[in-house]
Amino acid sequence: MTDTGTPSAHPAPPGCPAHEDAVPLAGLEYQQTPSQLYRELRREHGPVAPVLLDGGIPAWLVLGYPEVTYVTRHDELFARDSRRWNQWANIPPDWPLLPFVGYQPSVLFTEGEEHRRRAGVITHALEGVDQFGLARDCRLIADRLIAGFAGSGQAELMTGYAHALPMRAVVQMCGMPTAGADTQQLVDDLRISLDAAEGDDPVAAYGRVGERLRQLVKDKRADPGPDVTSRMLLHPAELTDEEIVQDLISVIAAAQQPTANWICNTLRLLLTDERFAVNVSGGRLSVGEALNEALWLDTPTQNFIGRWAVRDTQLGGRHIRAGDCVVLGLAAANTDPQIWPESHVGAENSAHLSFSHGEHRCPYPAPLLADVMARTAVETLLEQLPDLVLAVEPGELRWRPSIWMRGLVSLPVAFTPVVR
Ligand code: HEM
Repeated sequence: MTDTGTPSAHPAPPGCPAHEDAVPLAGLEYQQTPSQLYRELRREHGPVAPVLLDGGIPAWLVLGYPEVTYVTRHDELFARDSRRWNQWANIPPDWPLLPFVGYQPSVLFTEGEEHRRRAGVITHALEGVDQFGLARDCRLIADRLIAGFAGSGQAELMTGYAHALPMRAVVQMCGMPTAGADTQQLVDDLRISLDAAEGDDPVAAYGRVGERLRQLVKDKRADPGPDVTSRMLLHPAELTDEEIVQDLISVIAAAQQPTANWICNTLRLLLTDERFAVNVSGGRLSVGEALNEALWLDTPTQNFIGRWAVRDTQLGGRHIRAGDCVVLGLAAANTDPQIWPESHVGAENSAHLSFSHGEHRCPYPAPLLADVMARTAVETLLEQLPDLVLAVEPGELRWRPSIWMRGLVSLPVAFTPVVR
């Protein structure tokens, strides 16, 4: 594997990302084999492709492993505050990517010293999570969810399990009571604001999430406990209540969708790939391998938006102008032919970029906690329902139409009903 740490050269013509061979990203989501798609894009455009986001807004998609590493490592050149964007004049108020790109006063959009302050508090608060305690909590949550469908002999695992488990685990980790209507309401509102279904009102739900977390922060100020929120409150950096609310929302949102899709993509692999099918329920090693392989080949955060160029610069032979938007092609980087010249992608190590890289990467120890959640979710399910099989043909499984997140629309399974 090579990691030169510098952007490689490509003979493509320099210029504005809107030039005529730019690839519209919207629509590509209907491709069902993204690794092939990214290889084609790379072949045609080199490691940094000019793309058009929804509504024909120009940006750059960074496809090369060394180039993604370079961008994320050089936050003085490629920064996180989206207010730097030179396209704001062209963005309509109902632009679909606005929830991810629009500036919010959270850790996500801070830079430099301020980012180190905010991210330092989150890291400290997450470091205090007892991993054995988290595994125990996840197992209890898993038991409860499985009990809800075990008697029927069939289930749809995306909604009923893969999404529900990390959401409950992370809300609990932040100090919400284990059970109760209040916690359930927060879980429902978070689900609606992060992943609205038809008829949902995500704006209203997001408002209620903010209100409930403001209340949680107030309660924990008065009566701190062994939880993430209290540790953030007690940290010597002395974040304001509103900063903590914003960063709690970031932590919960950043944890939920990717961990849910990691669970789902791992289960899909275990249930469809014959290398794992021999003895799915028996092999702990196989679950670990499947979790790692899913991160290399079906990583939940396929593309991440993004970074904004601080000044004119060069990347992968392209001329990037100050204020240009750069999308991190994490999935493309993981399967970059430059690091896997034989076209075989090995999953033996964890040098993938699925948790990104550099200053804004998924903060240590979040990947470890996500691993505890995902591993416990998968293992508990396979232990309790050992003859679990797909209820449809593997070819009938449908990926969600998104270029950003990789996860299934649904994961229907069947098993021998368990009478308790
Ligand atoms: C316990 C579960 C998790 C927690 C608490 C968590 C938390 C966070 C937070 C707070 C950030 C913002 C970092 C910053 O801007 O400084 C972040 C970023 C990120 N996380 Fe996680 N995360 C979790 C799980 C995951 C998983 C499972 C994945 C994917 C496999 C993932 C991938 C990412 C990526 C790609 C970023 C963006 C980094 C960037 O801007 O370069 N996270 N996460």
